[in-house]
Amino acid sequence: MADFDLSANFIPSLHKPASLLPIARHRQNLLYLIEKYPVTIVVGHTGSGKTTQIPQYLEQAGWCAEGKIIAVTQPRRVAATTVAIRVAEEAGCKVGEEVGYSIRFEDVTSASTRIKFLTDGLLLREALIDPLLSRYSVIMVDEAHERSLSTDVLLGVLKKILKRRPNDLRIIISSATLQAEDFLKFFAGDTEIQPKPATPAAVTLDDLVSQGGSTAPDTDNVLGGNIGRIISLEGRMYPVDVLYVEKPAEDYVEKAVQTVFDIHTKEPDGDILVFLTGREEIDTAVQAISERAANLHPRAQTIMPLPLYAGLSTEQQMYVFEEAPENTRKVIFSTNIAEASITIDGIVYVVDTGFVKLRAFNPLTGIETLTATPISKASATQRAGRAGRTKTGKCYRLYTESTFQSLEDATIPEIQRSNLAPVILQLKALGIDNIVRFDFITSPPAELVIRALELLYSLGALDDYAKLTRPLGTRMAELAVEPMMAKTLLSASSFGCLSEILTIAAMTSVGGNIWFHHDGEKKKMETARRKFAVEEGDHITLLNVYQAFVTKGRKETKFCHDNYINFKALTRAVSIRAQLKRYLERFGIVVDETLSSNANKHPLAVGGPDKGEKIRRCLTTGFFAHAAKMQPDGTFRNVAGGTILHAHPSSLMFNRRADWVIFHEVMETGNKTFIRDVTKIEKSWLVEYAPDFYKIR
Ligand code: CDP
Ligand code: MG
Repeated sequence: MADFDLSANFIPSLHKPASLLPIARHRQNLLYLIEKYPVTIVVGHTGSGKTTQIPQYLEQAGWCAEGKIIAVTQPRRVAATTVAIRVAEEAGCKVGEEVGYSIRFEDVTSASTRIKFLTDGLLLREALIDPLLSRYSVIMVDEAHERSLSTDVLLGVLKKILKRRPNDLRIIISSATLQAEDFLKFFAGDTEIQPKPATPAAVTLDDLVSQGGSTAPDTDNVLGGNIGRIISLEGRMYPVDVLYVEKPAEDYVEKAVQTVFDIHTKEPDGDILVFLTGREEIDTAVQAISERAANLHPRAQTIMPLPLYAGLSTEQQMYVFEEAPENTRKVIFSTNIAEASITIDGIVYVVDTGFVKLRAFNPLTGIETLTATPISKASATQRAGRAGRTKTGKCYRLYTESTFQSLEDATIPEIQRSNLAPVILQLKALGIDNIVRFDFITSPPAELVIRALELLYSLGALDDYAKLTRPLGTRMAELAVEPMMAKTLLSASSFGCLSEILTIAAMTSVGGNIWFHHDGEKKKMETARRKFAVEEGDHITLLNVYQAFVTKGRKETKFCHDNYINFKALTRAVSIRAQLKRYLERFGIVVDETLSSNANKHPLAVGGPDKGEKIRRCLTTGFFAHAAKMQPDGTFRNVAGGTILHAHPSSLMFNRRADWVIFHEVMETGNKTFIRDVTKIEKSWLVEYAPDFYKIR
């Protein structure tokens, strides 16, 4: 092993020269393959430099000539932002200049941007406006092994685009594990020619492909033929000792906290990375560490717990990359984000609880759940590998070896367990009408496709022939919110409550906590929250919070502090609202803001009881599929009747009476299914606004 001690004295580890990364030796070869083949598949351990270096190599090699842009897609927003910040730093520019990022509701790019990190979902959205993605010379689909829903759909769309741009578009697929051959086979294989739509009103991908004919070169005997090649960056990994527990822990969060203290008190220097499943667990663990750290020996090394999950602000996320102060051990509690898409230097110990929160959509109940699920063998191996990046490491698996043996080899791709309504809506808008014959790398199960088509039909986005309706369907596809909220927004004018629904849509899209409290202030926060509460439910309460914020809170910092309101989240809501409003204005929908401003004087009134009913009716036009009836015991049943739903403790409907309600979100944690953002409705509205949906059942 080379000794870099000397250089380490001069160069802070965050700025380790890129020439020392494993990828550096492959630079010429990589550029050669990308020049010669339409598709290059890059396989390499996490941390070898794929995400940060390849775009810079490409830029230096001239792939940004004539104003072209290099796109690098990420399945996660967090990865897109942190990596862009890092690459901007390496390139010596501010993020948003030559190097930028773009995620939903947050575009940090400019006319000078040459390297653009964006979520795969956002690139798909761009295809709606620019069907051939012609601004880009190279599109790198990063973290493809994750097989996120949008990655899979994007791969199918890119395969089509490549047929039209075989000479000037390059696709790079980067993957941390060895699925490389599947990706290459997918691009090399024959595509079916989709039937041409009868009278296309706009140019769509399908037309372009079928009119242009296949321009893909003949394939020879080598896998990938003339289409592409695989390049593997073997890269160095240090050995990792894997340790198992003898019997499974009852509470893996508590066990993880204990293990962290064991490592901290018994093991030599090195930071710790703990894999948990979500924000609540992470907050619990971070708090437990802080509280118990007081019991450590006064002369012991300090322990610094840090959270890492998607809901954090970019700033908060950046803390985990900072080197710990002297005599301090960093312990990062992270979701699966840190498994592959984000690399944190200095990790020597990994604590793997063996669980990940996975989305699963039940086509029978129509309920999407986010459940802690056992990870796959591939995930476990990847997690352990995070300990061996800079020196020999240790991985503590909080499960038994026989449990490990019983794990699935790989995680089921998201496309086989998701609510497909949003992507089917987008594919339709891209002109891909025959979903069943679309070239998916893995086909979604028929029940999921049928359920999604059914929902889109009930929402009015599709007609009897499963074609996108105009203007409703096309507009729903363009709006950057999921179909149910899109429908609600597009119905709002007719109910005379567009301004209010815009606010509600923004508040439910913030993606972080609206409420904020320091340790031990939970009670006070609850009291503050009740001041904004209204009988009708959570949506109108959110509206009250927003209106109070724009009238008082934006100028007076004390307002947010006194009311336990998260200033950042509300500021984001203001920005999201403005963006949604621009979409609507582009459709020619006028947003009248004068009506709602009357409510500012008496925020709780929100334009009177009549307005409240309009809002609730309007919400029903979008969320009828998320309806439930309260039972005598205070729980809810969904319409199909089978599932017991609980109002989430954060909801106003927690411990309150109601009859029928609609809800924004349903989430299964542990063995309980919670509904969030709940609003009272009348049963008759369901039949009134969704006659087809309730006839089907
Ligand atoms: O994409 P891949 O996993 O192959 O590696 P990368 O993300 O390009 O990371 C290459 C190097 O940059 C690693 O040593 C990371 O630790 C470092 N890096 C960093 O220090 N801070 C970031 N925000 C991103 C990467
Ligand atoms: Mg990467």
